[in-house]
Amino acid sequence: MHSRELIETYQSYVQDWRRHFHKYPELSNEEFETTKTLAKELESMGVEVQVDTERGTGLIGIIRGDKTGKAIALRADIDALPVVEHNTFDFKSTVEGKMHACGHDGHMAILLGAAKMLMDMKDRIEGTVYLVFQPAEETGGGAQNFINFGNWFNEIDAIFGGHVWIDLPAGLVSVEEGPRMAASSLFNINVKGKQGHGAQPHQAIDAVVVASAIVLNLQTVVSRNISALDSVVVTVGNIHSGTEWNVIPGEATMGGTVRFFDPTQEEHIVASIRRIVEHTAAAYGATAEFIYENRVPPTINDTASSALAERVVIDTLGVHKLSKMRKVMPGEDFAWYLREKPGCFAFIGIQNPEIDAVYDHHNNRFTMDDSILSAASAVYAEYAIQWLLENK
Ligand code: NI
Repeated sequence: MHSRELIETYQSYVQDWRRHFHKYPELSNEEFETTKTLAKELESMGVEVQVDTERGTGLIGIIRGDKTGKAIALRADIDALPVVEHNTFDFKSTVEGKMHACGHDGHMAILLGAAKMLMDMKDRIEGTVYLVFQPAEETGGGAQNFINFGNWFNEIDAIFGGHVWIDLPAGLVSVEEGPRMAASSLFNINVKGKQGHGAQPHQAIDAVVVASAIVLNLQTVVSRNISALDSVVVTVGNIHSGTEWNVIPGEATMGGTVRFFDPTQEEHIVASIRRIVEHTAAAYGATAEFIYENRVPPTINDTASSALAERVVIDTLGVHKLSKMRKVMPGEDFAWYLREKPGCFAFIGIQNPEIDAVYDHHNNRFTMDDSILSAASAVYAEYAIQWLLENK
């Protein structure tokens, strides 16, 4: 049997699970009930389950094929976001202020569908498939924590995962090689000036003016320090300063993010930001402290894994479902796995204007065409089977 023959069989199964998870969202590192539900469902299929009992969130399902061989992991993330849902469908979030607004409900459903399919095709599996349900993707750190759970990460030889993607029409799949999602870093800037009377600015050092100048000067990091052929983003996302209308504030804080694809550029980008921050402040007689932290490296698909994924998509769904999509600037903690293991991260199209599945990820009206999720399950299952066959 081939995975493509099971797409219809499990279509409503996968769709129902996506809607169930959508109704009961849990935030990063609080996916306790989600974990229990997943464990119960996998056990009911006869899948061996290892729950991270120490944290109470996240689990691994293990499917051993009829023949022995290498091991591959298929990964889904399981957390929701602190977003108030504005959708009105009957499976909308039942928890006020929490919502699966990124599509991780779909990822869990896809992986449950893949588990069903793999259990039906154990005779084709030459090795072991690990089903990885990872907590806390949204807040960062989830993948790094989960790498240290049990021994699964040492045991696997390859990994595959994906993200449902709203910019891609429903049913299309993109698996190109190279950088697919950007590195994600955060920074904080603390400006110190001198507080004073709103009417006597000459006796103060205005932190609002300094912060404003820093924001404007930071616009030259990308436009004047980075090659026009490279993709980099520097965003200041928040500024806080002052509380009164007649007091010049002596302090300001700012926070922001940096995104890039080429890790060798990181040092240069960071040095450029630091230079502008410190010297702009100095030009106004103030000081500024720049604090930088890289959260996620870029997500990079290796050539062989992407080539296999392309063949699997064509073989399972047909050549017309294989899409080309440009890389995107958001980050993804799947990158940590790809730093150490060969693998591929796929984008799965879920956009469908007919059912209003057009709103961006993290929007309070985000939703997806979940009728195509079992096709994604088939791609996951088939990738695992083929990888094990071709890498004996
Ligand atoms: Ni996501």
